[in-house]
Amino acid sequence: MNLTLKVWRQKDARDKGSIVTYEVKKISPDSSFLEMLDQLNEDLQNRGEEPIAFDHDCREGICGMCSLVINGIPHGPERATTVCQLHMRHFRDGDTIFIEPWRARAFPVIRDLVVDRTAFDRIFQAGGYVSVNTGGAPDANAVPIAKADADLAMDAASCIGCGACVASCRNASAMLFVGAKISQLRHLPQGQPERKRRALAMVAQMDREGFGNCSNHYECEAVCPKEIKRDVINELNQDYLVASLTGRE
Ligand code: FES
Repeated sequence: MNLTLKVWRQKDARDKGSIVTYEVKKISPDSSFLEMLDQLNEDLQNRGEEPIAFDHDCREGICGMCSLVINGIPHGPERATTVCQLHMRHFRDGDTIFIEPWRARAFPVIRDLVVDRTAFDRIFQAGGYVSVNTGGAPDANAVPIAKADADLAMDAASCIGCGACVASCRNASAMLFVGAKISQLRHLPQGQPERKRRALAMVAQMDREGFGNCSNHYECEAVCPKEIKRDVINELNQDYLVASLTGRE
C-alpha cells in the first residue's frame, strides 16, 4: 500500500505545531498502524530527519499508552480497538490519513503525537485505591462476591486509562475514566469503607486538572477501546451526590 500521511509535528509544548505531509510506500496491509509509523521513522532517520515521537509500550492493547487521533477519531476507525491493534488492512491503497495527538487542555502536547497524561495519575492517586493494612494474602474465597457484582467490577476494571474518552469529548471530560475507576471498587465489598471519600476526592482532582463535565453525547463510550459503558458515569454521579449530601465518612 502507498499512503499519504498528514502528521502533527510539534517540537515542544511551546511550539505552535503544524501538519506535515509524508508519503509512505510499500506498506504491508498486515502491518499494524504503529509498525507503519516505525517504517516512516526509519525512512526519516535514513534521510537525516527527526523521527516522529509517538507513545506506545505493550502493543497488545493492554497498557493504554498508544494514543493517536486518526482521521479525527481517537484510536482510529475500528470499534473497540487500540491504535496498536489497528491494522493497515482497514485502510485503502492511496488513502490520505490524518494523524494527530489527543487534544485537551489537561493533556498538553510534549512533542509531536505525545501528550502528558499524568493528570490521570493524579486523579488515581486522589482516591482510586483501597487502603489496607498489609499482611499475609487472604484466601481467595474469604470474601464472597456475587457473580453479578464481580462481573460489573471486572468490566470497569478493563479501563486501560488511555484517555481516548477525553480526546473524543467536546468538553474534554474525564468522567468515563473516573467513572470506571469508581465503578470498579463500588461493586466490591473492599471498596465500601472509602466509597464516599473516594468519589469526592477523585471528582475534586478531576476538576482541578481542568477536565470538563460530561457533554451527554457519549462519544467517550463510542471510542473506548475497552467498551466501557456510560453507566459508569451514572454510578460516579450517584456516589458523588450521596457523598456530597451525607459527608465524607
Ligand atoms: S501500546 Fe499498549 S495499549 Fe497500545
